[in-house]
Amino acid sequence: MFDLSNRIALVTGAGQGMGAGIARNLARQGARVVVNDLDANRAQNTVKQIQAAGGDASAAPFDVTHFDEVQVGVNQITENFGPIDILVNNAGNAGGGPTMELAQFREMPVSDWRRFIDVNLYGPANCAKAVLDGMCERGWGRIITISSGAGQTGLPMGIALYGAGKSGAIGFQRHLALEVARNGITVNTVALGLMANVGDEASLKGMAASQPTGRLGTPDDVGAAVIYLASDEASWVTGQVLGVNGGTFLP
Ligand SMILES: NC(=O)c1ccc[n+]([C@@H]2O[C@H](COP(=O)([O-])OP(=O)(O)OC[C@H]3O[C@@H](n4cnc5c(N)ncnc54)[C@H](O)[C@@H]3O)[C@@H](O)[C@H]2O)c1
Repeated sequence: MFDLSNRIALVTGAGQGMGAGIARNLARQGARVVVNDLDANRAQNTVKQIQAAGGDASAAPFDVTHFDEVQVGVNQITENFGPIDILVNNAGNAGGGPTMELAQFREMPVSDWRRFIDVNLYGPANCAKAVLDGMCERGWGRIITISSGAGQTGLPMGIALYGAGKSGAIGFQRHLALEVARNGITVNTVALGLMANVGDEASLKGMAASQPTGRLGTPDDVGAAVIYLASDEASWVTGQVLGVNGGTFLP
């Protein structure tokens, strides 16, 4: 079950955190994984981890917010390895803890808005655009976007533009899923709750205790959900939002 041999998967923002976990999990199921990140060294680290575990991986650093860069990257991947079967749009900003950029909307400068929309909405759209024609020609494809509970509900802590980008990605995938449903392509979103990379040890402990399950999420929790959605077995699951959140948000 969930055999991904002979599939080529591109995972964006996979140099660390959830993306690295997704890449490792896809490789374990047999996929040839292309590890994208803005940061080439990080991408290379994930490649090394996968290869050390006996998996097949290569790095493809580019910025998902620029369509031209994405198109060049996807063309190179296609030439070197073959066409992309599985796209996982994981690159995003405003994780949490030390990296979380909290700012109440009234205090956030207008010049800061765009980068949240650029990476969280345009990133998935740019990457989908670059791979979709090939998927349609071959009659098979999987597009999975990593969104957030912040895209499903309102939160007061100062992530309004991040939430807008993540909601936008959910709206985008619903429409796209129906446009390509007869081409053998599924388009789904995984909406994450609080993950275990969002703070220092003390704050993580407090956050874990407040969760329904008593723990925060891990890269392997996300990887397992992505493996399923990427598989042949999930061919009748499309346009859905799968909450991987330990029960913190129940729509
Ligand atoms: N960590 C959480 O608690 C949490 C919660 C909900 C949703 N998410 C979402 O999950 C995804 C992964 O989160 P994470 O915590 O692992 O993030 P992270 O910040 O640890 O890693 C993100 C990676 O993406 C890369 N990246 C950023 N912008 C990019 C771009 N324009 N092009 C290519 N690569 C780029 C970064 O270099 C980094 O290596 C993100 O989309 C995030 O919004 C995370």
